[in-house]
Amino acid sequence: MALGLLWLGLVLLGVLQTQALDSTPNLIPAPPLRRVPLQPDFQNFQGKWYVLGLAGNEFNKEKHRQFKIYATTYELNDDNSYNVTSTLAWNQTCDHWLRIFIPTSRRGQYTLGNIERYTGIQRYVLRVAATDYTQFAMLFFKKIYRNQEYFKITLYGRTKELTPKLKENFISFAKSLGLTDHHIIFPIHQCMDK
Ligand SMILES: *[C@@H]1O[C@H](CO)[C@@H](O)[C@H](O)[C@H]1NC(C)=O
Ligand SMILES: *[C@@H]1O[C@H](CO)[C@@H](O)[C@H](O)[C@H]1NC(C)=O
Repeated sequence: MALGLLWLGLVLLGVLQTQALDSTPNLIPAPPLRRVPLQPDFQNFQGKWYVLGLAGNEFNKEKHRQFKIYATTYELNDDNSYNVTSTLAWNQTCDHWLRIFIPTSRRGQYTLGNIERYTGIQRYVLRVAATDYTQFAMLFFKKIYRNQEYFKITLYGRTKELTPKLKENFISFAKSLGLTDHHIIFPIHQCMDK
């Protein structure tokens, strides 16, 4: 379990264990940003999202089968940056993980604040690919970590319910970026869910 939390923390940070890197030497190349959709006229969503789907060139469906649904909250600052807090249930308590997303000149596209604190991360960009604000959002993340390029996408839901349509759209999105079923995971509910 301790390793599970470590892994999750690293994924949230966008950093992987060296061990995992060694076992995935042939990464699917990250798509250029121009090939990734951007939500037109993004209107700064806020509040809590549940992470219902994850996919990326560092994900492995078999290895990450036990991955649990967790929540991520977006709080808008006055300068249009976001405080993004992920909450993970862990050992009967909740752990919080905060990072800051800084807006870029493209609406809906952000970089990671305080990037110098994250050892090994040379570049980090994310964009809101699509959202309807009230039910779902799909985000794209790309980073360069120790000269390797990683990318991932996340499916957010306002509730913990993963509808077949959301699931299907997310799978299509993942595949449009060159990923396969093998790279897509749908986190499971936790036994302690209320
Ligand atoms: C975001 O985080 C900073 C630093 O922890 C804090 O000072 C600020 O009040 C937070 N902003 C919001 C909108 O919660
Ligand atoms: C879980 O929490 C309890 C009580 O806070 C603590 O005594 C125990 O060491 C923790 N276990 C782990 C694996 O962190």
